[in-house]
Amino acid sequence: MESKSEKIIYLTTPLYYVNAKPHIGHAYTNVLCDTFTRYYRWTGKKVFFLTGTDEHGTKIEKTARESKEEPLAYVERMVPLFKDLWRLLGIDYDYFIRTTDEVHKTEVAQILRKLEETGDIYKSEYKGWYCTPCETFWTGLQLAEGRCPDCSRDVQELSENNYFFKLSKYQPWLLDYIQTHPEFILPEIRRNEILGFLREPLEDLCITRPKARLQWGIEYPNSKDHVVYVWFDALINYVSAIGVSSDPERFLSLWPADLHLVGKDILRQHAVYWPIMLKACGLEMPKTVLAHGWWTLSGAKVSKSRGNIVDPVALSRAYGVDAFRYFMLREVKVGSDGAFSEDLLRQRYSSDLANDLGNLWFRVASMMDKYFACAVPDSEGAGEELLTRRTLELWGKVNQAMLRHDPQAALDAVWEVITAANQYVEEKKPCVLAKDAGRKAELARTMAALADCLAHLAAVLLPFLPDTARKILNRMNLSSRTVFPDAGSFAAVLAVSGTLLERGDALFPRLEDEKDEPEKN
Ligand code: MSP
Repeated sequence: MESKSEKIIYLTTPLYYVNAKPHIGHAYTNVLCDTFTRYYRWTGKKVFFLTGTDEHGTKIEKTARESKEEPLAYVERMVPLFKDLWRLLGIDYDYFIRTTDEVHKTEVAQILRKLEETGDIYKSEYKGWYCTPCETFWTGLQLAEGRCPDCSRDVQELSENNYFFKLSKYQPWLLDYIQTHPEFILPEIRRNEILGFLREPLEDLCITRPKARLQWGIEYPNSKDHVVYVWFDALINYVSAIGVSSDPERFLSLWPADLHLVGKDILRQHAVYWPIMLKACGLEMPKTVLAHGWWTLSGAKVSKSRGNIVDPVALSRAYGVDAFRYFMLREVKVGSDGAFSEDLLRQRYSSDLANDLGNLWFRVASMMDKYFACAVPDSEGAGEELLTRRTLELWGKVNQAMLRHDPQAALDAVWEVITAANQYVEEKKPCVLAKDAGRKAELARTMAALADCLAHLAAVLLPFLPDTARKILNRMNLSSRTVFPDAGSFAAVLAVSGTLLERGDALFPRLEDEKDEPEKN
């Protein structure tokens, strides 16, 4: 069994409902999680990244019937859309769990039996209001003017016999846990929302649906007449995927999760239901539940039911995967909402990627070709350049930002150095130095500092823009392995001088309608 210090970092995304093809909101969560995964690997850590699909429940059953398919056939058809998107976006997950997996179903039944044994489940009549799109029950008091308080849509009144999970019993414990563990729910604004929610009495959670109303779910272990509530089923994936009861050794090497990444709309399930389920099962709490904001379009949350979809496949094909990833990571701070517009994406592409980064590469590679036949000159003296100092400081800044779960700040720091490098070219004017035979050493130092800077930039960009970063490192004949032997010494191993550089084509070609604008270099 692995000791605590060797614990593998365990990161998760929510399981996506398969009732429609994935949109930018889903892509965002997975790109964020992928970036964190690559970042931890980049610092030499072992990581396990889990994602998957949520395939049961009323919403899926209804959509399947509408398309005249059996639910199972329907989900089989939909799941590849998610897997294909993750492949396209370079999402480097380790395991893909489906709630229809037999192993998952068995683990759910095991947990329910355990909770029955501990006396945390009871049978009772349920009266309430149900919002099908949100798969959520509401009491009359919680409704907002008779409608779902989350999505404002119509709700249905229901009265039926069901099984309940004793959330209320654990409320004082949860309140205390959240208060004493400030890193448990992030960002703070969301933590405060949950604390506010917990100031009101918590109602027990109805965890079954009668089969008379819903067949498409995991059968409740003690009753042929009920299926398990889709949220109760899906939340268990975080432990079923790693063998909570079937493979204790593996489970202990991963649990507790280090980061559950979720959207702010599903925080309550992850910060109230889930910790109580774990506590009742005698399992440890995940370290952090991080809630990101929403991508909106014309002021409304992007969602299938609102019909304002932003298609990640089309955007990645039009601008490239790295540009799409970059846009999402740079445009908003994790936790805030982001207003999507293709114009903003184009602006980021043209100014940050084509002009700043792309142009820096183009200038340095062309000058290296012209003045040194592509061989990076000896870097002696380059270490004293201000640019080199700023480049080396970047590692710490990126690390700090990522430890704060802030990829936007990490990219801000990277772009400050890119800007500094472009200014350095303008100030040093290598083309002037090249004309003066007496300034050969200065030219070599300048070009060495720039090559060194580019190598570091590419290296720190690996978690964010994996393809571009690798392309630059390959063009500089520096494999990512040489760059990152371990967490402490990345900077020291970059031996750029003497490497042969390949110019290659433009990293970010100009967008079609901007081609007539003059080149910057
Ligand atoms: N199936 C549940 C999660 C179960 S986890 C045990 C679910 N699925 S979902 O497909 O509706 O949403 C999955 C994730 O996508 C959520 O984190 C949600 O916040 C995120 N997004 C969906 N639309 C979004 C935006 N418009 N913007 C950003 N993320 C949003 O909930």
